[in-house]
Amino acid sequence: MHSRRQFTHLCASALGTAIAGSSRLSAASNGAIQKAMEAVRAAIPTAQADPERPVYHFHPPAQWNNDPNGTIFYKGWHHLFYQHNPYDSVWGHMHWGHARSRDLVDWEHLPIALAPSIDDGEDHVYSGGAILGPGDKPMLFYTSIGKREPEQWLAMPKDDDLLVWEKYAWNPILRMKQHRHTSVYEWRDPFLFRDGEHTYLVTGGNLNPRGGQASVQIYQASGPELTSWKHEGVLFRHPNKNPWNIECPNFFKLGEKWVLLISPHGPVEYFAGIFDPEQHHFFPETHGVLDPGKSYASNISFDTKGRCILWLWGRTETPAGKGWNNVMVMPRILTLGEDGHLRQNPAPEFEHLRTHERNMPAVSLDNQAKALAAS
Ligand code: FRU
Repeated sequence: MHSRRQFTHLCASALGTAIAGSSRLSAASNGAIQKAMEAVRAAIPTAQADPERPVYHFHPPAQWNNDPNGTIFYKGWHHLFYQHNPYDSVWGHMHWGHARSRDLVDWEHLPIALAPSIDDGEDHVYSGGAILGPGDKPMLFYTSIGKREPEQWLAMPKDDDLLVWEKYAWNPILRMKQHRHTSVYEWRDPFLFRDGEHTYLVTGGNLNPRGGQASVQIYQASGPELTSWKHEGVLFRHPNKNPWNIECPNFFKLGEKWVLLISPHGPVEYFAGIFDPEQHHFFPETHGVLDPGKSYASNISFDTKGRCILWLWGRTETPAGKGWNNVMVMPRILTLGEDGHLRQNPAPEFEHLRTHERNMPAVSLDNQAKALAAS
């Protein structure tokens, strides 16, 4: 496969578009976003100088990234938001970076979408999801972290290019006390889906204060504005005692079944089965590991071809000081096999990057090579 094309495009457009777009931000968040983007810009030369930085996978212009967030296909563009520390190549100061692509191959970096509202007691903008809300406009939901209990917050776009985001004036849209008698720990990572007339939100967490009873909570929107939500209970509890908590749950319909993806501080797992919307409960029938490698914190989007696209954080574990850390795994298309288990294939968009096909003649292995292959 050709590996330079995506990289060239990333570098050429890196922060030019972003800085230009940022002049349209509202005064309140403009300062924080400008400052963050200047910090990213300053780190680009260091990141580019590292010969070990991957050139093929999507990554921010510089600095740290983790989870894919709010992945959504809107008006012909795949939008990818992601957990981003603009100030360092290690985790911290969580913002939402933003990029878009028409074909999943060539990406354009856009202004940082969300920065913590420090004046409102917000230290981090944690992971979350997107959905089309009233007027078919995308809305972003995320976990707001500060020196208080986690809260779920909402942001809305000010323009159709989704360059400028404004946080909802009456945030939070969900707070801990809405669980009434249920105590949820490590409560975060909203993901949204629809079933018939209803819109739902799920979050990860655990029910045991000492870790364990890793579970997914489900909430139903009380109206089409998606600003008011009711806790409906526990959608899913992990059958295994070991996971401390569940992060980044994604729950969606694929063919005739419902699929739950979870990140339990180990390889991402999937469950496929039946959703009972009366009991708000998920009954898994199959279970497996999505990827035994270092990928984590899934998100999904559906495009207008009806394809379910899987996004994953690719952990590179790069030492600090290199001006970059981590990538996104190449997007994959998810389907369900006849056996009820998930299937995943690289997005076919990447096939046209293949050039200079070479066929190697078959060779016989000598004993030393056989021993090496077996070891
Ligand atoms: C998963 C995660 C999420 C959280 C985010 C913070 O990698 O821990 O649960 O929202 O990263 O960056």
